[in-house]
Amino acid sequence: MADKLTHAVQYDSYGGGAAGLKHVEVPIPKPSKGELLLKLEATSINPVDWKMHKGMLRPLFPIKFPWIPATDVAGEVTVVGPGVKKFKVGDKVVSMLDIFKGGGLSEYAVSSEKLTVSRPPEVSAAEGAGLPVAGLTALQALTYHGGITLDKTGPTTNILITAASGGVGLYAVQLAKLGNVHVTATCGARNIDLVKNLGADEVIDYKTPQGAALKSPSDKKYDVVIHCATPIPWSTFEPNLGPNGKVIDITPGPSSFWTAVVKKVTCSKKKLVPILLFPQAKNLDYLVGLVKEGKLKTIIDSKYPLSKAEEAWAKSIDGHATGKIIVEP
Ligand SMILES: NC(=O)c1ccc[n+]([C@@H]2O[C@H](COP(=O)([O-])OP(=O)(O)OC[C@H]3O[C@@H](n4cnc5c(N)ncnc54)[C@H](OP(=O)(O)O)[C@@H]3O)[C@@H](O)[C@H]2O)c1
Repeated sequence: MADKLTHAVQYDSYGGGAAGLKHVEVPIPKPSKGELLLKLEATSINPVDWKMHKGMLRPLFPIKFPWIPATDVAGEVTVVGPGVKKFKVGDKVVSMLDIFKGGGLSEYAVSSEKLTVSRPPEVSAAEGAGLPVAGLTALQALTYHGGITLDKTGPTTNILITAASGGVGLYAVQLAKLGNVHVTATCGARNIDLVKNLGADEVIDYKTPQGAALKSPSDKKYDVVIHCATPIPWSTFEPNLGPNGKVIDITPGPSSFWTAVVKKVTCSKKKLVPILLFPQAKNLDYLVGLVKEGKLKTIIDSKYPLSKAEEAWAKSIDGHATGKIIVEP
C-alpha cells in the first residue's frame, strides 16, 4: 500500500532565501526505536534554520537534500516507536527535533523521546514551540556559562543582555530576573517598554551612541554579558566589564574565537566564551514548567500558516522579529 502523504516545506540546495522553499507532499515519516510521530500544532523558526540553508553552518551541520528545515515544535503524539517509555498516543508535547534531521516545517514530524517533554494544557502549542532553541540557549548561557542561579539566593550579579528583543534575548531577560540579577538590556527604541515590562532594570536603544558603546546608564560594570546581537568587537565590551567580567557570546564570529583563545592563554580575568547550545530535556521541561506557572512568557512576533512558511522564513532572515516567529500547519 502507498505511504500516506503529508504537506511539508523543503529545499533542495543551499541558498535562495525564502524563494528556495518549496511546498511538497511527502510520505508521513515513520518513528524508529525511541522515536515518536508528532502531528504538529506549531513550529518556531530560528536564525539557525536559515543560516543552515544559506550554507553558513556547513561544517557544523551538513545537510542531506532534500531538507525539511526547523527543529522547534509542539504537537500531539500519534504513533510511538518501539521502546518508547515516557509517552503514549494522544499526549501533547514540546520537542526539539534532531538538528541533523530537521523536519519541523511539516504537518507531521518524528522526534526523539530523549528531547521531548510533556506540554500541560496551560501552555499553548505556540508558546511551547517557541522554547527549544531560544529558551534553552538563554537558560544555558545564564546558568551553565554565566554561573547565575535562578533563585534569589545567589550574589547580586550585573548583567547585560544584547538584542534583548529577539527570541533568545526576551527569554534571557525573564530568566535572569528569576535570579538576584540587575539586568541592563539593549534593543531598538520600539521595544524598550516591552523589555522593561518583562523585568529589565535599564534598557538602552542600540542605535544611540550610549547603546552602541554598551554603556550602563547607571555606570555599572557588567559581571556577565549575554551577547545575542551580531558580532561586537572586544574593545567595545572590555571597558564595560567588571574585573572578572565574562562575555557569553552566542553569535561568535572568527574574531570571537581568536579573542577567547588570547584571553585564555594570557590568563586574563576578563573572558569571552563562545557557546553552542547543547539541548537537554530536563532544561526544556523546566522552561515549560515556568511558562505553566506564569513565570516565563513566550512573546510571539507573528504567526503564519504552513502554506505561507516562506513569509515566516523571510521575516526571520530580516532580523527584526520581536520574540518568536511561529508557523502553524
Ligand atoms: N550559539 C547558539 O547555540 C545559538 C542559539 C540560538 C541562537 N543563536 C544566535 O543568536 C542570535 C540571536 O538569535 P534570536 O533568535 O534571538 O534572533 P532574532 O529573534 O532574529 O533577533 C531579532 C532581534 O534582535 C534585535 N537586534 C538586532 N541587532 C541588534 C543590535 N545590534 N542590538 C540590539 N538588538 C538588536 C532586533 O531588534 P530591531 O528589530 O529593533 O533591530 C530584533 O528584535 C542569532 O544570530 C542566532 O543564530 C545562537
